[in-house]
Amino acid sequence: MKTLTITRPDDLHLHVRNGAVLKTVMPHTARQFARAIIMPNLKPPVTTVDQAVAYREEILAAVPAGLDFTPLMTLYLTGSTTVDEIKKAAESEHIHAFKLYPAGATTNSDSGVANIKAVYPLFAAMEKFDIPLLIHGEVTDDACDIFDRERVFIDTCLTDVAKNFPGLRIVVEHVTTTEAVQFVQDAGANIAATITPQHLLFNRNAILAGGIKPHHYCLPIIKRESHRLALVEAATGGNPKFFLGTDSAPHLTSLKENACGCAGCYSAHAALELYAEAFERADALDKLEGFASFYGADFYRLPRNSGTVTLEKTAWKVPSVYGENGVSITPLKANEELSWKLQ
Ligand code: NCD
Ligand code: ZN
Repeated sequence: MKTLTITRPDDLHLHVRNGAVLKTVMPHTARQFARAIIMPNLKPPVTTVDQAVAYREEILAAVPAGLDFTPLMTLYLTGSTTVDEIKKAAESEHIHAFKLYPAGATTNSDSGVANIKAVYPLFAAMEKFDIPLLIHGEVTDDACDIFDRERVFIDTCLTDVAKNFPGLRIVVEHVTTTEAVQFVQDAGANIAATITPQHLLFNRNAILAGGIKPHHYCLPIIKRESHRLALVEAATGGNPKFFLGTDSAPHLTSLKENACGCAGCYSAHAALELYAEAFERADALDKLEGFASFYGADFYRLPRNSGTVTLEKTAWKVPSVYGENGVSITPLKANEELSWKLQ
């Protein structure tokens, strides 16, 4: 049987929520990944080191016994974040980054930053204390077409941030466009990007053709085929600026299949398998290990993991839902066959 063994990977962009949803999703991530960068967009958001340390304990309590998993915590940047908190975060062994959500850009972003120029002094502090800034790169202007929001953010905002803070490590999260790939490629070594499985596997027809498919709706929204091809080329090209970040974002099925459905794809149940499918289609399985296991750790200045995981070329059918006792989460590729399976 065909197998693929790689160093244990990390997920550099993950939502695990809390409470019953956390308990449902955490085993999926912990069996595949050694570590994950945990997003702070809870309700209310995780804005202080003390909150993140408490959330970290809650996450660890949801990791099944026998699995070795380390949550890498982040803080949610707001207009009221202080320089003191940035210093404290940079000094904490558990906090690895700040996350910038433009106010209103995505799920639980109401407390995000409304005026990005106004937080430049905070970017200066992150640069000085050397803690990375993770950016959800979309404008929120209602006059801007939803498919253009990432490209316009690069032109009107990100370019200026990069120019003003040349020493600030930035991850442009979940890039979805040719323009974002180009921006990251052309930028200094301090700027990198994560890429999700859904943006490698699907183009926007997956949301809108043949009926509305709410489980393919996430933000930034999946773009047209030419952008998908640029993302596949970036992910499989062996460039260390591009690494794995699933953006797995669980929502209850009832909140996705809704007149106003939530944004976010749940992919943690089969993250590596989904990436393997995308890399195999591009005839680049030999590039999966760098993307999944090395480049993210290197960017965050973490040691590379020891140990390995093995994928087998075995078809299996993804369940229609995960969860119990009132939790029902529909996974990406529900009821469909995947060709790779984690041993
Ligand atoms: C994420 C979520 O649900 O928290 N949703 C999404 O569509 N990706 C938030 C985010 O990363 O934008
Ligand atoms: Zn996200």
